[in-house]
Amino acid sequence: MRKEELIGNAMTAMKNAYAPYSKFTVGAALLGASGKVYFGCNVENASYGATTCAERTAFCSAVAHGEKDFCSIAIVGGKGGRVEKYCPPCGICRQIISEFCKKDFKIYLYNGVEIKTYTLEELLPESFDLR
Ligand code: THU
Repeated sequence: MRKEELIGNAMTAMKNAYAPYSKFTVGAALLGASGKVYFGCNVENASYGATTCAERTAFCSAVAHGEKDFCSIAIVGGKGGRVEKYCPPCGICRQIISEFCKKDFKIYLYNGVEIKTYTLEELLPESFDLR
């Protein structure tokens, strides 16, 4: 799947975001080795701390559907659903990605104009791993 298409899926996923507190909506589209795409969006909570990020939602959905090997993820986000800046994954999401993905896993970000591509190694060097 082309990165442009995966970004398009992330834009679609963002529409389902539940973000009544921050109003910052995030969408993620995770491409599995099977070719299937798993959608994720942020799901906020009144306790704030129980909020789940879009990337983690996508990984949990994929694992729940039996997929554990992944090629790439596209992430978009912005205040009020406006995608004007890149929305890089937070630290916790980077750690979640590293649980399942190798160093060359691709992370696509979009600012409404251009797509930026990173590898997991670039966004989380020297990551903690028990294996
Ligand atoms: N958020 C994500 O969904 N992914 C990230 O990597 C960073 C932050 C969400 C959580 C919260 O609902 C909103 O963005 C503002 O922090």
